Amino acid sequence: MSRPKVWIPRRLSAATLDRARASYDVIEEPLDEPASAARIIEMSAQVDAMIPCHSERFTAEVAAVLDSRLKIVANHSVGVDHCDLPALRARGIDVTNTPDVLSDATAEIAMLLMLGAARRTVEGDRVVRSGAWDTWSPAFMVGKQVSGARLGIVGMGRVGRSMAEKARSFGMEIHYHNRAELAADQAKGAIFHADLDEMLGQVDFLSLHCPITPETRNLMDARRLALLPKEAVIVNTARGGLIDEAALLAAIQSGHIAAAGLDCFAVEPGGNPALAGEERIMMLPHIGSATRKTRDAMGFRALDNLDAFFAGKRPRDLVN
Ligand code: DGY
Repeated sequence: MSRPKVWIPRRLSAATLDRARASYDVIEEPLDEPASAARIIEMSAQVDAMIPCHSERFTAEVAAVLDSRLKIVANHSVGVDHCDLPALRARGIDVTNTPDVLSDATAEIAMLLMLGAARRTVEGDRVVRSGAWDTWSPAFMVGKQVSGARLGIVGMGRVGRSMAEKARSFGMEIHYHNRAELAADQAKGAIFHADLDEMLGQVDFLSLHCPITPETRNLMDARRLALLPKEAVIVNTARGGLIDEAALLAAIQSGHIAAAGLDCFAVEPGGNPALAGEERIMMLPHIGSATRKTRDAMGFRALDNLDAFFAGKRPRDLVN
C-alpha cells in the first residue's frame, strides 16, 4: 500500500524530518519561505496532509479552493489563528495544533522580556556595547523590580500557568483574567478577576497569553492601557494583534507605561519600525518556542496527530 504524501513547507527540526520521512512520502521546501496561498492551493492536489506553521495562511478563500485530496492540516504551532477553522471543516479537512509542548519555552521568553523590559536591558546593552558607558551613580539606569510586585496574566491556559509558576518563584503575586476561574490546584493561589478592566488597575506587570480572536483583537487599546497603574510594564508573547501598537507607543512616550517586552507584532515578519526607535521596548522576532527541545517536541506532536489520523483514529489535538 502506498504511503500517505505529506507536504512540509518550512524547515522543521532534523529529528522531525527524519521521523516524517520514515513514515510518509515527504515533500520538503528547500527554500524555507512562507508558502503563498497559490502554493498551498497547488500543493493540496499533490498531498494527503500538510504540516504548516503559523506563517502559512489558510483563509476562507484558500480553504474554498483546496483540492479534495487534502485531508488534514497538522499545524506545527499551538496558535491556529492562521487557519479559518470552520471553512476547513466545511471542506472536510481536519486541523490540529501542538499544545502543551511549547508552554515552558514561551513562558521563559515572557520572563526574559518582563525582566529585560523592567531592568532597561536594551538601553544597558547599547550603552556598554557602544562604548558610551562613562559613568556610574546610584541614580544610573534605575529600573523596576519584579519581586514583591503584582503580575496580571491574561489567559491562564498552559502558557499562562507556566508563566505564573515561574513568576511566583520570583516572588510575584499572581493575578489572572480568564474565561473561567481555575480550580484551586491549577490556580495555586493566583487571584481571579472576572473583569479584565478591574484587574488592570491592580497589577504592576501585565503578560498576555490569550489567543487572538475578533473579541481579543486590540484588547490592550488606549483605554485599557490607561487603566494600568502608572509605570506598569506590559509583555506580549502571544499574538501582536492583541495590542494597539500606536497606543502602546503613545503610552510609553507619555511615561504612563514604563516599558514593554514584545515577541510578536501586528505585522510579521518585520515588526513595527515606530516601536523600534524606543529603547524602553525590548523586542524579539517571535521566538517564544524556538528552542531545540521544543522544536522537536512540536514536530513530534504534529506527527503524532498525523499518525493517529492515518491510523483511522481521532487526532489528539483536533481543533475543528
Ligand atoms: C505558535 O505555536 O503558535 C507559536 O506562535 C509559533 O508558531
